Amino acid sequence: MIRYSIYIVDDDPAIRDSLTTALEGSYEVRAFSSGEDVIEELARNLPDLMLLDIGLPGKNGIDVLQDARDLCPETLVVMITAHEDVSTAVSAMRLGAYDYIVKPLSLEGIELSVRKALDTLRLRKEVNILQEKHLIENVPFFIGESDVIRDVTEFIGLVAKSTTTPVLILGETGTGKELIARAIHFRSTNFIGPLVTVNCAALPKDLIESELFGYEKGAFSGAKASGKRGWVQEAEGGTLFLDEVGDLSPEAQAKLLRFLEDGEFYRLGGTEKLHVQTRVISATNKDIEDLIRRGLFRDDLYYRLGVVKMLIPSLNERRDDILPLAKHFLVKFGRDFGKEFSGIAPKASAALKDYDWRGNVRELKNLIERGVLVGKGKELTLQDLGIGSSGKEPILEQERHEPWFPPILPEGIDFSSVQESFEKYYIEQALTLAGGNETRAAKLLNMNHHTFRYRRKRLRIQ
Ligand SMILES: Nc1ncnc2c1ncn2[C@@H]1O[C@H](COP(=O)(O)OP(=O)(O)OP(=O)(O)O)[C@@H](O)[C@H]1O
Ligand SMILES: [Mg+2]
Repeated sequence: MIRYSIYIVDDDPAIRDSLTTALEGSYEVRAFSSGEDVIEELARNLPDLMLLDIGLPGKNGIDVLQDARDLCPETLVVMITAHEDVSTAVSAMRLGAYDYIVKPLSLEGIELSVRKALDTLRLRKEVNILQEKHLIENVPFFIGESDVIRDVTEFIGLVAKSTTTPVLILGETGTGKELIARAIHFRSTNFIGPLVTVNCAALPKDLIESELFGYEKGAFSGAKASGKRGWVQEAEGGTLFLDEVGDLSPEAQAKLLRFLEDGEFYRLGGTEKLHVQTRVISATNKDIEDLIRRGLFRDDLYYRLGVVKMLIPSLNERRDDILPLAKHFLVKFGRDFGKEFSGIAPKASAALKDYDWRGNVRELKNLIERGVLVGKGKELTLQDLGIGSSGKEPILEQERHEPWFPPILPEGIDFSSVQESFEKYYIEQALTLAGGNETRAAKLLNMNHHTFRYRRKRLRIQ
């Protein structure tokens, strides 16, 4: 069992002695007679708990508390205060003290207060461990050596201190916006609550509102008889991630604005005012200021969503990140596909550094994944990557033997059979690239494994 350490700071020797006697049986106790002495010690050793007299001569208890917040933010501080000075103790709590006890001290009062504080400390530590575990499981590390990646990491740390401030993430497709949103969620205390991701672009416009805010029974034809909770409600106590927020309809924008202003909303067809607390993170790869100019996005909503804003530069603007990312993905997919690569061949590295990454990190990730699939192992070569040595245009398999699409004839065509041959072509291609492995093939098409199997079966592809 760990023995917690407690520092007692009081100029009165009688109090120091009685506290030490009361606590040293169960804890590691040290006593200090002045603020200066304990500050000097805090620069070296950090206690779990500090019992701190307010009325110290010289540096007083409030000064010591403020220094301690910087020196040992995790240490809990319980103020010791004279009866007539309780209001100072209350302001000390505003400055970050955990609790206060009033003189004259009773032994029971002290033991209770110390036990309560240390229980809190233990819980906090447990929560931290749990949070680290969730982070590792849910958020991959940000790879990169550019200043951008350093700023992004710092930004996430800052934003995660709040649980409600809305965050807007801007950047081209594939730059890592969703990754940042996840990291903010799991770094903040909201990680205990749900992370609900809504892709505003993937839903038909007239459904977004009812999906977001829910609906009452009979709200529209086709509505479920029971009514439905919306995503906003599902995200209670956690994070609501609105991806592709630039695609919201004007009606949904108006409702979202109202919700952001006071946390209140109505279900579609509902009259009851609902209230939910959640953090809204939104992202878009659209030029949102241009949308505002064209009257497609409300500027008041833009300001509400973007109380804190982050713009992630494209990969082309931070080329220092390319090789570290490529190596990271090489190891990752090598492990996934059970192939070992020693590294990336010099010509391939040069081409990657030169390449025009219009799809940003996602394109790089896909390219490496494909390279690992088709590569023979050892070094990853230009040929595995399927890009030209100038690093400009990819020469992908598809372009070498392109599928043929029949033109529409005057008497019309059989659309479903064209569609079938199109599906068949890609499923076969993916299977070939994946060496017959269905899971990998489905992944190449960004298709759910079950969907893939279903289609493969229906098209009778061997
Ligand atoms: N710095 C990074 N380190 C490691 N992986 C990254 C990094 N940046 C992006 N990725 C990975 O690249 C892929 C694309 O990132 P993400 O989905 O977050 O992009 P996005 O900005 O949301 O794109 P879109 O606008 O198309 O939705 C993901 O697999 C993500 O994990
Ligand atoms: Mg995204």
